[in-house]
Amino acid sequence: MSPRAERQTVAWNRRHLLGLAELSAEEILAILDTARGFSEISKRSVRKVPTLRGRVVVNLFFENSTRTRLSFSLAAQRLSADVLDFTSSGSSTSKGETLIDTARNIEAMGVDVFVVRHSAPGAADVLSRHLDAAVVNAGDGAHEHPTQALLDLYTIRERLGRLKGLHVAIVGDIAHSRVARSNLYALLKLGARVTLVGPPTLVPGRFRELGAEVSHDLDAILPDVDVVNMLRIQRERQGKNSLSFPSIEEYSRRYGLTQRRLKRAKPDLVVMHPGPLNRGVEISPEVADGKHSVILDQVSAGLAVRMAVLFLVVGANEREQQERAALLREAAQ
Ligand code: CP
Repeated sequence: MSPRAERQTVAWNRRHLLGLAELSAEEILAILDTARGFSEISKRSVRKVPTLRGRVVVNLFFENSTRTRLSFSLAAQRLSADVLDFTSSGSSTSKGETLIDTARNIEAMGVDVFVVRHSAPGAADVLSRHLDAAVVNAGDGAHEHPTQALLDLYTIRERLGRLKGLHVAIVGDIAHSRVARSNLYALLKLGARVTLVGPPTLVPGRFRELGAEVSHDLDAILPDVDVVNMLRIQRERQGKNSLSFPSIEEYSRRYGLTQRRLKRAKPDLVVMHPGPLNRGVEISPEVADGKHSVILDQVSAGLAVRMAVLFLVVGANEREQQERAALLREAAQ
């Protein structure tokens, strides 16, 4: 379906995308269906549409990123928006400027969308309360990474044709993972079964309260799952010089996905990883590059999903501003 046709059918009224916990199943499907329309643009000889011409998108990144930052930049460029890239290193935050002051000063240059990554949970939400521009959360601490989960769902749907009824295992450092949380919220809303797998210190039982199943035994769960999403140990969110398990070798032995372990899995198991990979720790090189892996498909899907998100939030923001202006005109009469 073309983006134009999708535009007439999608119901989306949110100015911001802060997380998937707050979205309905219909809103999540609206993003995935819009992304499907936009994915076709990447196959054209001229891979650009004028949809956001004259709009400005800022990447406001206070944490490192390869995939998310570059694909938001490319997504905005494919939609013909102007793109500004802010990274905290080299910025005036080193002189004491706050997050809100930084964002408000950039907004004063005339910005339509802030794409925000920050180590503090809730950073995108805080900015959405201080800015007129749309805010998209590109990862806030261990809270949420909504576009990562959306591209994960998009990839699963493309590969297996559905989400409802699938059994998805998310394996690894769940306690510190924004990717796990966003995936969990979205997968459950769309009717998938989710098992979180890892050592008890990294997969606390309290996740059951969110509707997940919890397992500490990857070998026991593997034969039953349709999709396995392998996560990196988030060393940067654990205490310095401390690990929540005896050693990396021990972790890898119990929870690393290897060819030997895959022999227990369904023949059409889908293997995912949000990146960056720690090859030889949570996933072996053979599995990462093997026939079950859709890791690079996930990256490609990220472009279409981020084009859809930018398009939807800009549209909703414009509608809201027009409605506000109409109300002010009425009040003035
Ligand atoms: N998956 C992901 O968020 O990767 P980056 O940190 O490279 O953006």
